[in-house]
Amino acid sequence: MIKQQLAQFNRLDLIGAPTALEKLERLSVWAGRDIYIKRDDTTTLALGGNKVRKLEYLAADALAQGADTLITAGAIQSNHVRQTAALAARLGLSCVALLENPIATEDSSYLHNGNRLLLDLFDAKVEMVENLDNADEQLHALAARLRNSGKKPYLVPIGGSSPVGALGYVRAGFELAEQIKQTGLDFAAVVLASGSAGTHSGLALALAEALPQLPVIGVTVSRPEETQRPKVQSLAERTAELLGVTLPEAFNVELWDEYFGPRYGEPNAGTLSAIKLVASHEGLLLDPVYTGKAMAGLLDGIGRGRFDDGPLIFLHTGGAPALFAYPGVFA
Ligand SMILES: Cc1ncc(COP(=O)(O)O)c(C=O)c1O
Repeated sequence: MIKQQLAQFNRLDLIGAPTALEKLERLSVWAGRDIYIKRDDTTTLALGGNKVRKLEYLAADALAQGADTLITAGAIQSNHVRQTAALAARLGLSCVALLENPIATEDSSYLHNGNRLLLDLFDAKVEMVENLDNADEQLHALAARLRNSGKKPYLVPIGGSSPVGALGYVRAGFELAEQIKQTGLDFAAVVLASGSAGTHSGLALALAEALPQLPVIGVTVSRPEETQRPKVQSLAERTAELLGVTLPEAFNVELWDEYFGPRYGEPNAGTLSAIKLVASHEGLLLDPVYTGKAMAGLLDGIGRGRFDDGPLIFLHTGGAPALFAYPGVFA
């Protein structure tokens, strides 16, 4: 039902073939549990990541509305802003981004390297703001300013996490369900980073229909469970409404919030050792803001017996360009 409804929405095909689902052989031996990885870090646009899936739907909507400018917001090292700016360049649109410094650092690498360096290459126009506490309002004010100067802005919310953006992860959920069925394995859970919530909401919505027994566990990267839960739940409800369906009975928001401290954008010891472990065992790059924290949760979850028996899937949502904004942390 959800899958049929999804087919009615306009989508730019940026990704092409499904991203791989593969086994992490050496990490599995290390952990004493089979760990598979869904490679959404390899989506094709500008060093990849999960936002490309959301932008397939958001940019199709922007073009349908005749927009000439994509506007969005995020941290200086936002992967989302990098992917949005890259897509604007590819489509011949302008991009204006409001950026905040969420960890109040003056470190030159954070301010200028990593994702931030790439924004200049894509010709994005950057406006620094004190904070993004009222991001929707701030983006609407920016849109009004641009309209007054004759532009046609399209507002991409933080993280691309509107119901339209979340459709990208509904689609990804069905793609993953198909791959899981092809393995013939009985997976114990899918684990992913849960931030602005579009990835988590969309994936959990699709999997609740396609594989209702499979737990989807979001490891929070910026909030405790009590504030993240309503974000994921509400976005899933609004996405279901956009699709013209009700939430499947099996839909359930499961969150682990022990791994995001000390705060968004600041890695802890567990984050860093998860990144180092995966890099040194698999030649695979995680990031200090999202996937390092989610992987730390997965590994700790194995150690503490938090999963049922069976292999696990880690959704790799990208983010490795941010490694270059955190030099020295692995020394
Ligand atoms: C690398 C990476 N992983 C995970 C996320 C979290 O996804 P979402 O914001 O959809 O919860 C983000 C979002 O910015 C990201 O850049």
